[in-house]
Amino acid sequence: MSVILTERLKLRPFREGDAEAMFRNWTSDGEVARFCRWYRHKELKSTRWLLELYLREAAEGFDHRWAVTMKDDDEAIGSVEVVGVRNHDRCAEIGYVIARRYWNQGYMTEAVRAVIEELFRCGYNAVSARHHTDNPASGRVMEKCGMHFVGMDREVRKFSEYDMCDVMVYEITKPATG
Ligand SMILES: CC(C)(COP(=O)(O)OP(=O)(O)OC[C@H]1O[C@@H](n2cnc3c(N)ncnc32)[C@H](O)[C@@H]1OP(=O)(O)O)[C@@H](O)C(=O)NCCC(=O)NCCS
Repeated sequence: MSVILTERLKLRPFREGDAEAMFRNWTSDGEVARFCRWYRHKELKSTRWLLELYLREAAEGFDHRWAVTMKDDDEAIGSVEVVGVRNHDRCAEIGYVIARRYWNQGYMTEAVRAVIEELFRCGYNAVSARHHTDNPASGRVMEKCGMHFVGMDREVRKFSEYDMCDVMVYEITKPATG
């Protein structure tokens, strides 16, 4: 799996030992989890279980999930991953999080731009993302990455069959090469 370098960040595969940093930096934070599909982790063992899943999926060949770190520090401070693929037009849907102390400094825009380029290099024709209508910061990341609003959708909130929410869907298409 590729390591992606940006101006300030390194995006690398998750590895054994990341669970503590994941828990400290984002999985235990209810503010980070607020608009994500998962609930905040109350215990480190939930994050350990999640990391085990990540490592198992990576061993099985899933290589489109990156831990975000600063270039000069190996600590995982966030993640970007492909969360779904629309096969008929090779469109990858991505999701992302970053620790609260890094918000509003352009980091996720930097990471997502690089991931979009990498996914185009890997053969995807389009990249999409969706955000809860009450989470405009995420929509702003999408806009700054050149993604265009394509419409509204409804989806279940937090895996609950009965609680639906409105989401805004953005996409970017691979530029034609001349
Ligand atoms: C959404 C998230 C990934 C953004 O990461 P980030 O590193 O702060 O993003 P950036 O700094 O690159 O860009 C954030 C933009 O949102 C803007 N923003 C922040 N809060 C905002 C708000 N309430 N309304 C509108 N824009 C807002 C910032 O000003 C910035 O735009 P600007 O550069 O034009 O000023 C981060 O807040 C996060 O991890 N949130 C929790 C998890 C999450 O919601 N993930 C996305 C699920 S769809």
